[in-house]
Amino acid sequence: MYKELAEYYDLIYHWKDYKTEANTIKELIREYKRSEGKNLLDVGCGTGMHIKYFKDDFSCMGIDINNEMVKVAKSKVDGVIFEQGDMIDFNLKTEFDVILCLFSSIGYVKTYSNLEKTFMNFANHLKKGGVLIVEPWFTKSAFWVGVPGMTTYDGEDVKIARLNTTKVEGDLSIMEMHYLIAEKNGDIKYFVDIHELGLFETDKTLELMAKANLISEFLIDGLMKDRGLLIGVKL
Ligand SMILES: C[S@@+](CC[C@H](N)C(=O)[O-])C[C@H]1O[C@@H](n2cnc3c(N)ncnc32)[C@H](O)[C@@H]1O
Repeated sequence: MYKELAEYYDLIYHWKDYKTEANTIKELIREYKRSEGKNLLDVGCGTGMHIKYFKDDFSCMGIDINNEMVKVAKSKVDGVIFEQGDMIDFNLKTEFDVILCLFSSIGYVKTYSNLEKTFMNFANHLKKGGVLIVEPWFTKSAFWVGVPGMTTYDGEDVKIARLNTTKVEGDLSIMEMHYLIAEKNGDIKYFVDIHELGLFETDKTLELMAKANLISEFLIDGLMKDRGLLIGVKL
């Protein structure tokens, strides 16, 4: 997952306004954070596009399970440590003032049991009064099951078409993404990425955050439509 995509990830998501999202998150940090410091960890950081807009105000670190994404992030963003790590059980032996997990990366833990471990792990890496901001994946009722999707990128030297189908099995959403990529003076690449994300209900998610010693709330108006934001402050 994301391995072959890493070098094209920012083209596929060229429409995403990371700067505005980072500014919204900065306001929330100002509102909720009670700890004194400015150490920020972005989990599931991808190509580092959010961190790029935090690094002047915070001392930043990013982790991602996919080493190809980590490599892209390192090449794009200076002055930040990026490491490979799984959000369920990474151990950085340090505490942060802010932990972010954005653009629904949390959904990839797939099960409630993993979600519980992940929140425990986030809480263990937060200072007292530190803030966790998670942008969740969809709940079951908000997920567009059965609806096909298409995303394209039409650059001069690179053209990408991504088509996907969606289905639900139990509490899991499954998206089969088919990529066709044409590059200047190159052959056409074709690959398939299968994404499986847990459809977690908001109430149950908030319960697990509370269990991890986080005073938690859900904001309906988040960064993207129908996803909202989860905020937790470490007790
Ligand atoms: C939709 S992308 C979001 C990336 C980035 N946060 C952004 O906003 O562009 C999801 C990211 O989560 C990462 N990921 C998936 N499962 C993970 C896990 N268990 N631990 C850490 N990262 C994970 C993927 O490799 C991918 O980079």
